[in-house]
Amino acid sequence: MRVALLTGGGDCPGLNAVIYAAVKKGINHYGDEFIGFLNGWKGVLENQWIPLTLESTDGIQLKGGTILHSSRTNVKKIPGGIEKVQEVLKENKIDALIALGGDDTQSVTLFLAENGISAVGVPKTIDNDINGTDATFGYDTAVSIATEAVDRIHTTADSHNRVIVVEVMGRDAGWIAMASGIAGGAHVVLVPEKPVDLDHVCALLKYNYDHGKHYGVVVVAEGCHLPESGQILGSGKVDSFGHAQLSGVGEALAKLIEEKTGFETRSVNLGHTQRGGVPTAYDRLLGQRYGLHAIDMVHEGKWGRIAVLKGTDITDITIKEAISTNRRLDQRFFDVIAGLEAKV
Ligand code: F6P
Repeated sequence: MRVALLTGGGDCPGLNAVIYAAVKKGINHYGDEFIGFLNGWKGVLENQWIPLTLESTDGIQLKGGTILHSSRTNVKKIPGGIEKVQEVLKENKIDALIALGGDDTQSVTLFLAENGISAVGVPKTIDNDINGTDATFGYDTAVSIATEAVDRIHTTADSHNRVIVVEVMGRDAGWIAMASGIAGGAHVVLVPEKPVDLDHVCALLKYNYDHGKHYGVVVVAEGCHLPESGQILGSGKVDSFGHAQLSGVGEALAKLIEEKTGFETRSVNLGHTQRGGVPTAYDRLLGQRYGLHAIDMVHEGKWGRIAVLKGTDITDITIKEAISTNRRLDQRFFDVIAGLEAKV
């Protein structure tokens, strides 16, 4: 078969591992040929691609980012977009398409599969919030990076008797905040699933100061809602899927904490640092397992389906189910956060 791959949406450590494994098994086990469209759906619309061979993909599983580059392009919103995709796939004699991406990218994959295109998906996000899968590759790397940052914040916050708010990614779900906050020993962890209770946050920090610890570390997910102002929309820009760019909740929260407590409060936004660099061993392994399953799905004709991790097994579900909702933290995780907080 002649198979095309593409990566859409925000990049994610482990994308290259998926590409590597799909190409390797496809060529060695099935005798496939591969191309990779550049810059997500944009590259399909513009017919921009590179050949993917055993030589060109050799060793990429160790690297971060995506060798195919990425964009946030919504084919569904482009007049004649679906026809153009069909035309480009036909012109390049593509028998099947593997799209690596989050819910936005996969909404396009589903749309194409429903319109006769042989396409399957691989879930991708550092946010770990795709429905129906227990873990997405990239999340473990993001958590390691954020945890190291939170660890480092302790000594400088302590030295200056400050509160420092660390803003991490997490638009709809607080997986990164929860894991890095707990692993990094933050005194307060705030997630988008629950509105911020400023009185409670300040009470937790005051507890520290009243009990001999004259500093505080707060981890807040970018999608958290603040009292009165709600979500903080950094640049005011909106992407082609209608999502506002989020940024600045850490800084806004730091101001509120300083006003309310009188403690000097600073903030740091970890931003895209969390998506950069090499994937952890876990993400390299998980990414390769997803890649192997994706090429098997192609040969089984599982169009409109997406690879998922269930427990320790890689299997697949419909893309429709995967994009129907976000996977958010549930009560079990709120109990962990609450169980570790000081009693105030
Ligand atoms: O990939 C998801 C995500 O990491 C979100 O947490 C964040 O809001 C978004 O990407 C930012 O992506 P970009 O700035 O690249 O558009």
